[in-house]
Amino acid sequence: MTAEVSPTQVSLEDLLRDAVVRLRDAGVPSARVDAEILLAHVLGESRGRAAALALAGRRADPETAERLRSLVDERARRVPLQHLTGLAPFRGLELRIGPGAFIPRPETEQVAQAALDHLQCVRVSRPRVIDLGTGSGALAAAIAAEHPAAEVHAVELSEQAAAWARVNLEPHGVTLHRQDLREVPAEWEAAFDVVVSNPPYIPPGMVPTEAEVREHDPELALYGGGPDGLQVPWAVVDSAAALLSAGGWMIMEHAEVQAATIAARLAEDPRFAQVRTHQDLTGRDRATSAVRTDTAARPSPFDAIDMGE
Ligand SMILES: C[S@@+](CC[C@H](N)C(=O)[O-])C[C@H]1O[C@@H](n2cnc3c(N)ncnc32)[C@H](O)[C@@H]1O
Repeated sequence: MTAEVSPTQVSLEDLLRDAVVRLRDAGVPSARVDAEILLAHVLGESRGRAAALALAGRRADPETAERLRSLVDERARRVPLQHLTGLAPFRGLELRIGPGAFIPRPETEQVAQAALDHLQCVRVSRPRVIDLGTGSGALAAAIAAEHPAAEVHAVELSEQAAAWARVNLEPHGVTLHRQDLREVPAEWEAAFDVVVSNPPYIPPGMVPTEAEVREHDPELALYGGGPDGLQVPWAVVDSAAALLSAGGWMIMEHAEVQAATIAARLAEDPRFAQVRTHQDLTGRDRATSAVRTDTAARPSPFDAIDMGE
């Protein structure tokens, strides 16, 4: 017995083909993938199953077809895919995301990996970790999910971003603090074992070319301030120096062109040692880590005393 086909129904295959053409014409770089993800989203299926249903000749009712066309129109206007589905994958997680929060990037997954690798070596039963400028909560949520022994905190200034972070962090027991990462409360001093951060670091003249980034990621998340974009990253370094206990470890993401400057400055900074540059999966220098030294920046009371002979 064959299923009855209403004349108003459209084949998923045709819908998918039209979507790919529309997105390609609009210059969307991953037109096929995006079309499949949007089809999966409207069908409430996985991407693989949505593509399989299209291949198998399935048809869609007019409402579903209209919903897909309208999402494809938005994507063609370069609204980020993650804003249309409301989801952003990050390591094993699916984070809730929308306007007002930075969309997590694949290279930041490597920063999380480095932090998780470091946590394996920390000899503290409940290490305290803090994520400065958490955005949607990506780094903090991934670390809490993958290293459940850690006590994870996250700091975010933007109320809009914090609203998304709250949703993503709550299931993982992360404590969110809505405050400026440049201000370290006295009770937090030397209270953390690990500081992670993907701060804003783009210099003012380097406006991103992709419309998705330029028009949809918040300015507070993109531009680091100062002529080289490093004002907020340097503030992260200063806050990390205050937050970390002796032997504590920090890692910060940055642009490839900033790697040498950051490594050189940290190498000269008596508050840090064991400076290391980390590469992303394409081999670019995209993060720097360092270990908080013991007393170098905290003057010893004996420094001022002439011990004589
Ligand atoms: C590049 S985004 C990264 C977000 C998230 N860590 C990620 O990797 O997806 C930088 C984040 O830092 C936040 N931010 C910028 N300046 C800040 C400040 N002074 N204090 C706290 N958060 C800040 C921004 O709102 C934004 O959410």
